[in-house]
Amino acid sequence: MSKINYGIDAPKVIARLIIIGVLIILISILFPAIDINGIKIFTPGFIWWGISLVLTGILMVLYSKFGKFKHRDRILNKIKWNGNEKVLDVGTGRGLLMIGAAKKLTSGKSIGIDIFDTKDLTKNSIERTKANAQLERVDKKVEILKMDILKTDFPNDYFDVIVSNLCLHNVKKSRDRKATCAEIYRIIKPKGTVIISDFIHTREYTRKFRSLGMHVQKEGLYVFDTFPPLTIIRASKN
Ligand SMILES: C[S@@+](CC[C@H](N)C(=O)[O-])C[C@H]1O[C@@H](n2cnc3c(N)ncnc32)[C@H](O)[C@@H]1O
Repeated sequence: MSKINYGIDAPKVIARLIIIGVLIILISILFPAIDINGIKIFTPGFIWWGISLVLTGILMVLYSKFGKFKHRDRILNKIKWNGNEKVLDVGTGRGLLMIGAAKKLTSGKSIGIDIFDTKDLTKNSIERTKANAQLERVDKKVEILKMDILKTDFPNDYFDVIVSNLCLHNVKKSRDRKATCAEIYRIIKPKGTVIISDFIHTREYTRKFRSLGMHVQKEGLYVFDTFPPLTIIRASKN
């Protein structure tokens, strides 16, 4: 593989939005009045639904192609780097934050963990993430592990920095998402910084981190360069 590629997020969701949107647009143009058992349905009014679904799909592609790099820098610029940190990227996918963090390090290490689910990111695999790290010339500073955030093998108080973008919402049950926040709390060092970026459940993460005694700040919504619009949570352990 010779080209760096960080993939398209949620490819099936994007495909569904665009296909259903195009179908609605076509039906409302080709069949302006449909008769179902004597009930007349005038479809042109539905065209706006179709257009908004297609636009949503296009905005999601634009985020994956362009916006995510600006958002990566926004997240990483919130840390005062000294170069020797131990960093964890939770749900690294094809390495966006793990590789970005590695570029800030001198003697430190950037670790990415993921279950590599291809529903969440196109061509999501540990091999492609390793290839991206090589192409970005940070392979000596990273380690990529197939590991679920619900139960990691890291010792207590291990990382200086933990980052995560668009991962935690994939944990389906609220109970498990809270367990995920507790696991992050367990492995971050005292005075360490956690930055979680997501589009839903951010209130839940905030409450859980606060209940564990962390100091939490919430920033966003970032509506111009992220889609779906993302919120950033910054939490630090006392
Ligand atoms: C939308 S992708 C985002 C990838 C990357 N953070 C980025 O911003 O490009 C979400 C990632 O979270 C991973 N993921 C989902 N559930 C996970 C879990 N329980 N533990 C670790 N990773 C998980 C998926 O495999 C996927 O790579």
